[in-house]
Amino acid sequence: MSASLFEIRNLSKHFSLGTKRTGGVRRELVLKAVDDLTFDIREGECFGVVGESGSGKSTLGRLILNLLTPTSGEVRYSGFKGDAKSVSASASDSTGYGDISALAPASHEMKLLRRDMQMIFQNPRSSFNPKTPIRAGLRDVARFYGLTGERADMKIEELFALTGLGRDIFGHRGDELSGGQLQRLAIVRALIPSPKFIMADEAVSALDVSVRAQILGLFREMKERLGLTIMFVSHDLTVVEYICDRVIVLYLGAIMEIASARDIFSAPKHPYTRSLLAAKPRGRPGEEKKYERPEGEIPSAVDLPPGCRFYGRCRERIPGVCDTAEPEAHDVSGAPGGHLVACHLYR
Ligand SMILES: Nc1ncnc2c1ncn2[C@@H]1O[C@H](COP(=O)(O)OP(=O)(O)OP(=O)(O)O)[C@@H](O)[C@H]1O
Ligand SMILES: [Mg+2]
Repeated sequence: MSASLFEIRNLSKHFSLGTKRTGGVRRELVLKAVDDLTFDIREGECFGVVGESGSGKSTLGRLILNLLTPTSGEVRYSGFKGDAKSVSASASDSTGYGDISALAPASHEMKLLRRDMQMIFQNPRSSFNPKTPIRAGLRDVARFYGLTGERADMKIEELFALTGLGRDIFGHRGDELSGGQLQRLAIVRALIPSPKFIMADEAVSALDVSVRAQILGLFREMKERLGLTIMFVSHDLTVVEYICDRVIVLYLGAIMEIASARDIFSAPKHPYTRSLLAAKPRGRPGEEKKYERPEGEIPSAVDLPPGCRFYGRCRERIPGVCDTAEPEAHDVSGAPGGHLVACHLYR
């Protein structure tokens, strides 16, 4: 098992939505977007994050990149020992971990660390200036990271070769390119500072099926050739099964299950994970449907009732147990790597 790149410890992000008066009493409304998450992201893995809309996937990604300050908890990063002097873009030999969420997002230390951590979003069209010629835009990015002149051009050409882009688009502008070309460019741009970690949030969701397959192939290649660690946020379980090594399943801001992608898809334990799989297209036409969708709609993450947050929709709920205490995630496998499940059925 490889070392951890990130150690996420009791990480929470709660949003205050103002106050509400009920029965003459004014109460604060708090939305628990991410609630007390503890897990590791290992070096060199593709770590999938799944869950229905509103489960906290994007908030978690932004917390890990320190684009958002947590309400509590830590994002411990292996390249950061916790003091400004130790920050280095290539501190991979460091054995200590430092909490990067304690750094101000705009601080000098965080700026240095940002080279290590890049992101790729769903809609590449909105993240490129449509009027700037491609090479000029990429040279600006390179300059931002201290690469100029021939070194910048060599890096850009190397990444064009890796991503299968032709030099013929150098003079084109963003608005002249296809969605697939733009997503390859977004990958080039993310790779310019030679990062260790890429956070991809729904990075292939907006692409046509055939282009999606090509970009997914590229993600795999980046992981293998460059040794990158990838956090892959997606609501598309077929894509996650194809590309991810391990998967975390979130529901209303909490961990339901964490396991290898193989176990999540072939032997899911949590009733919520199973219900998510009910929505996944079957491998073969006519193949028997194994799981059922959850009952009802996803409730609000404001004012969560006591007990398991999936209680109201779970087909296997045990009244008097599941609605009293919130289940903690624990290992049900005993094997290295583990299989964590937060469910009273496994106690
Ligand atoms: N700045 C904010 N203020 C208040 N609530 C927020 C804020 N950002 C996110 N939320 C809420 O936090 C919860 C989690 O949102 P998040 O965007 O992380 O979900 P998600 O899993 O990425 O969903 P999707 O699949 O739709 O992208 C949602 O209920 C959302 O409305
Ligand atoms: Mg999201």
